[in-house]
Amino acid sequence: MVNFYVNRRPSLISSIVLIFLLLDASSLSYAANRVVEINVICKNKDLMEDDVPFRVCYNLLNSIPGGAKGKDLVTLVRYTIGVVRAKITNTIHFIDSLIVNSRNSSLKDHYETCLDHFGEEGALGSIDYSGELLEKGDYLGVNVAASAVNTFIDDCVYGESPSDHPLPDPSRLPQHASNVEKLVDIIMAIAKLLYTG
Ligand SMILES: *[C@@H]1O[C@H](CO)[C@@H](O)[C@H](O)[C@H]1NC(C)=O
Repeated sequence: MVNFYVNRRPSLISSIVLIFLLLDASSLSYAANRVVEINVICKNKDLMEDDVPFRVCYNLLNSIPGGAKGKDLVTLVRYTIGVVRAKITNTIHFIDSLIVNSRNSSLKDHYETCLDHFGEEGALGSIDYSGELLEKGDYLGVNVAASAVNTFIDDCVYGESPSDHPLPDPSRLPQHASNVEKLVDIIMAIAKLLYTG
């Protein structure tokens, strides 16, 4: 019995080899082509910054051509970045029309500020940067750049400092902004899965 036990004991060398094999295996499991059920992504409340309704997350990810089934995390996040980029572009057009149609000068100023926050120097630039970092495999960077998108959007809706009082905005802009932010949360969640494994 004792002999059996001793014989089964791994030597120091083989322990070290085993540890390296395990490390290698775990780094493989972080691989970009990992497939995670979208149910698992969308149900994970800890992954999402804000309360993203399950349906919003599920429908968005499943709207990828061919459906989400079997799609790896990088493919899903790349798709979501594209959707968010299109929504930001639409929001910029919407803000342009608000500026043109606004008779109220303080609202007009507010919309002009929002245009900056949504533009190349703001949300649009950050979502593009997030996409560039994705292609470089920098998933932490993807998360950080996406979080900057939401900061720019918050700056538009709520002002840049806590002392700014958000203007009561009668337009649909705050709702649009909040919808985009929820999709950005999905990008951040998937990026987090990619860099934490
Ligand atoms: C302009 O819009 C703001 C925000 O909705 C409102 O508080 C303000 O009363 C409006 N001013 C005028 C002149 O209508």
